[in-house]
Amino acid sequence: MKIHSYEKAFLTVGGGVLVACAAALVYATIVHGIHLPGASGRIDPAQVMVTPPFDRPGVYRRAVDEYEVVAIGRAWGFQPAEIRVPAGVDITFTATSVDVLHGFNIEGTRLNMMLIPGQISRNEYRFDEPGEHLLICHEYCGLGHHLMYGRIVVELAGTAVPLIGEEPPLAGQPAADPAVSPPDAAMSAPLQETVLAHPSSH
Ligand code: CUA
Repeated sequence: MKIHSYEKAFLTVGGGVLVACAAALVYATIVHGIHLPGASGRIDPAQVMVTPPFDRPGVYRRAVDEYEVVAIGRAWGFQPAEIRVPAGVDITFTATSVDVLHGFNIEGTRLNMMLIPGQISRNEYRFDEPGEHLLICHEYCGLGHHLMYGRIVVELAGTAVPLIGEEPPLAGQPAADPAVSPPDAAMSAPLQETVLAHPSSH
């Protein structure tokens, strides 16, 4: 079969673009860790405030270099409104919405989640440098949408950030057996009681 040279050229370019796009996708997924927040679980949207871990939004330390931020989006603000984490640690952001669809976008990073009522969104991130980032709701959520923002303060690596009480149970699992204490009790002890634990409602 004779293929016209123009057609060959188009096929080559077209094939090349496909391969390049597939390579970019693999690169973004593996090297930059970009992926859709998984469906990490479902909860009753009416019971968010009494469902662990969302009954206590805040910053938790899971291991020496592992943190978890439990956050809630509501019209129109985030809980906690200010999140302090150290640089250079792996942070899991676990968040949901108590009312309508919200966004959870940390400016200047790839962290970008949708907060869907009844759905737990989870994503990991590591801040390499200390600094401040705006936490933005980037899904239109009503009259106060433009007022819905928070602050992420990334402290110097190794800084003790305010944590919240004991270890919360993992989402979707029953509370941990209190008899099984963590190996290093000091590690999970609160460094400082903080208003982040009980932000006033607004
Ligand atoms: Cu919440 Cu826009």
